Amino acid sequence: MLILGIESSCDECCAAVIEDGRHIRSNGIRSSAAIHEKYGGVVPEIASREHLLAVVPVIEEALNAAQCQLSDVEAIAVTAGPGLIGSLLVGVSAAKALAAASGKALVPVHHLAGHVAANYLAHPELKPPFLALLCSGAHSHIIHVKTYTEYCILARTRDDAAGEAFDKIAREIGLGYPGGPKIDRVSKTGQPDALDLPRTHFKDSLDFSFSGLKTAVLNKVHQAEQQARREGRQREDILSTADIAASFQEAVCRVLIDHLGQIAEQCEEKQIVLAGGVSANSRLRELAGQLCKEKKLELYLPPIELCTDNAAMIGAQGYYEYLAGTRADLRLNPRSQWELGTALLS
Ligand code: KG4
Ligand code: ZN
Repeated sequence: MLILGIESSCDECCAAVIEDGRHIRSNGIRSSAAIHEKYGGVVPEIASREHLLAVVPVIEEALNAAQCQLSDVEAIAVTAGPGLIGSLLVGVSAAKALAAASGKALVPVHHLAGHVAANYLAHPELKPPFLALLCSGAHSHIIHVKTYTEYCILARTRDDAAGEAFDKIAREIGLGYPGGPKIDRVSKTGQPDALDLPRTHFKDSLDFSFSGLKTAVLNKVHQAEQQARREGRQREDILSTADIAASFQEAVCRVLIDHLGQIAEQCEEKQIVLAGGVSANSRLRELAGQLCKEKKLELYLPPIELCTDNAAMIGAQGYYEYLAGTRADLRLNPRSQWELGTALLS
């Protein structure tokens, strides 16, 4: 069964054709990241205007690359939220138009459920239930994935998301946007213990908080800058960008993996899945590997190219939603905020 997946929740406009929820027939992407780079972050108005130009060609390309036509697909799955509302509207409007014209089923997909489903494309043996550590630009959750379409959020960030913290620190230390991959790269030459940074843990919950860490890093950077000015030196000679990046990355990844380990122990789940843009982080993947080896858990990592936003993951999740009977009609409206595990229209 073929599903056409469409994703446009942020700065990537994507379409893919997925077979039986597990095989990628095509996976097209048009990113406007290079334009946003100039502004140091995603400019929502520009993202949605770029999506308008990209959406029809990217869908045509996905169908052509999969050597099929719209009449061959069973359903059209589209990210209905959460995300930037103007961006979401482009994908949802395109999906509604195609569904109306073709009579195919329209299947709304939660963006974070899609990130989890990226793993189904790479790991044929993976089936729920499992625990997922899902870290993107806007969310940091530990989720109990109970079935292909049922979720329970066990921990979440109380302030900044992990990806957001990566992006903000990268901007402050001059690495630019998108920050995550750049911090990951420069960290390889830095010392992870160069800075003594706070690792926030709450007494009564395994939720995350990254805003204190972010402030602590920024304070250290500003102190080093002031010292450099006083002494007529460069900040880099006092506190290197590589050391800042490595220490920050270590603090974020350690907290994420520590909480994941504690939750895995509590709920006795043996399968662990990483998902979302931050799951591309090499240190996070390494620490997850160590945790799972130590505790004899099975670890599933998405391939790097499926960690960040793509339509293949939406097609994969769309398949399972279609089987579960999830449908929308032409009244479908995207939602910028949508809690995973709750009904779209609630
Ligand atoms: O899942 P995603 O593509 O988009 C959202 O749904 O938000 O995640 C994007 C986030 C950005 O904050 C980006 O900096 C981060 O994922 N990211 C990384 C890495 N690659 C992407 N963070 C840390 N290390 C990476 N290698
Ligand atoms: Zn995403």
